[in-house]
Amino acid sequence: MGTVVVKALKYLLLVHISLTFIYTNEVSSASPVTSPAAKMSRRLVAVQGMVYCKSCKYSGIDTLLEASPLQGATVKLACNNTKRGVTMETKTDKNGYFFMLAPNKLTTYAFHTCRAWPTNLGPAAATVTCTVPSQLNNGTTGAMLKPSKSINIAEREYVLFSVGPFAFEPACTR
Ligand SMILES: *[C@@H]1O[C@H](CO)[C@@H](O)[C@H](O)[C@H]1NC(C)=O
Ligand SMILES: *[C@@H]1O[C@H](CO)[C@@H](O)[C@H](O)[C@H]1NC(C)=O
Repeated sequence: MGTVVVKALKYLLLVHISLTFIYTNEVSSASPVTSPAAKMSRRLVAVQGMVYCKSCKYSGIDTLLEASPLQGATVKLACNNTKRGVTMETKTDKNGYFFMLAPNKLTTYAFHTCRAWPTNLGPAAATVTCTVPSQLNNGTTGAMLKPSKSINIAEREYVLFSVGPFAFEPACTR
């Protein structure tokens, strides 16, 4: 009787040890924080893209044919990388191009939690006929970031992500 109990206890102890072992192994391989490989490949996030004013000719059609670059348009980046998240805005230059370096608390590990989209037409609103943000390339719902290449800025490693091109729809009739 006594030996049976001891055997059973030994068996239970063994099961417990192996379960603990499996559990801790799973936790450490699933956790990106403790994995050195994941840490090494983490970089900072840079985002680029273009914003256009669509031609009256192609109002309502998903094309950038005869579209012109928009200067001074605001583009927003929003990420749910943490509870509070990260948001930032930037403006397009005279070529309709924008480029932003996300805050350091955002790393490439969480790039999939980010969306970018144009929020404001800017000063061009006074002169152009395109006034409504276009859904082209998820320009109203927010575009996901696509990695394009690695870059170094001030001795920091970034991955440059691309979004868009975005556009504003003309209000004019064809
Ligand atoms: C972040 O989460 C909120 C709440 O779930 C959601 O409304 C928002 O669209 C998310 N933002 C991004 C950039 O995914
Ligand atoms: C656009 O949104 C759709 C639906 O959410 C998604 O499947 C697609 O991957 C998105 N594309 C980009 C570039 O954000």
